[in-house]
Amino acid sequence: MNGDGGKVVVLGGSSGIGLATVKRLARTGFQVIATGRDSEKLRAAVADLDGAIHTEAFDGADRGALDRFFNTTGTIDHLVIALSGGEGAGLFNELDLAALRRGFEAKFWPHVQAAQAALPVLRQGGSITFVTAISAQIANPGTSGLAAINAAIEAMVPILARELAPSRVNAVSPGVVETPWWSAMPEAARRAFFEQHGSELPVGRIGQPDEVAQAIAFLIGNGYTTGSIMQCDGGLHLL
Ligand SMILES: NC(=O)c1ccc[n+]([C@@H]2O[C@H](COP(=O)([O-])OP(=O)(O)OC[C@H]3O[C@@H](n4cnc5c(N)ncnc54)[C@H](OP(=O)(O)O)[C@@H]3O)[C@@H](O)[C@H]2O)c1
Repeated sequence: MNGDGGKVVVLGGSSGIGLATVKRLARTGFQVIATGRDSEKLRAAVADLDGAIHTEAFDGADRGALDRFFNTTGTIDHLVIALSGGEGAGLFNELDLAALRRGFEAKFWPHVQAAQAALPVLRQGGSITFVTAISAQIANPGTSGLAAINAAIEAMVPILARELAPSRVNAVSPGVVETPWWSAMPEAARRAFFEQHGSELPVGRIGQPDEVAQAIAFLIGNGYTTGSIMQCDGGLHLL
């Protein structure tokens, strides 16, 4: 790590898309601070990077913890918000609205309050990148709740890009990506779903976390892109 690319905070950096982003950015000259709730998981996740990554464990759903964290970072150049939720899926006629509410609490509110909490330390001309989900833009039965959570964030992106200019605000909107997010599904069913879903996509397979990390790295690095929601979904939005 030489840090020449700037200082980046990746919230949700101990697993999946966030972890792939941490690794890609660290390899390409950024100074990276990775966060998650579980300090051991964080340490283990970045162990192969020889201490190059600074880690901080706290709950991104806790505004006080976010404010205390950003009080310690000094000025940052970029913020990536890859915290996950998980609840909120299901056909609407049987959708558990308490679970949908928890889904908003686990993703929408942490993303929005993290972006707001970072503003005092975000360098003018820096960037914020949200990781949303392509469910926000497609009409897949069983995903109205997940679509609502992610579309709520995506709706804010172009407006924040104007309000916070010259800082840039973008989102990456992934399709199905092979990460621990899916680990609640039994292994055999998960494999079968990945196979089946992948075969229906224009690219013929599901995504890998580093492919989304590559999209995030582009949005961080491209100074002429703001207010964009980049689909990174193997073409799912085309179906
Ligand atoms: N995988 C997919 O197919 C897919 C598709 C579309 C969109 N996405 C979105 O992509 C983002 C990343 O998902 P992923 O698949 O990479 O998930 P993941 O592998 O489960 O990783 C989630 C990360 O977020 C952290 N996290 C979760 N809640 C947190 C909280 N309250 N405070 C701090 N850290 C928290 C986790 O660490 P701890 O466990 O230590 O908290 C972990 O580092 C999510 O927003 C997800 O909705 C994923």
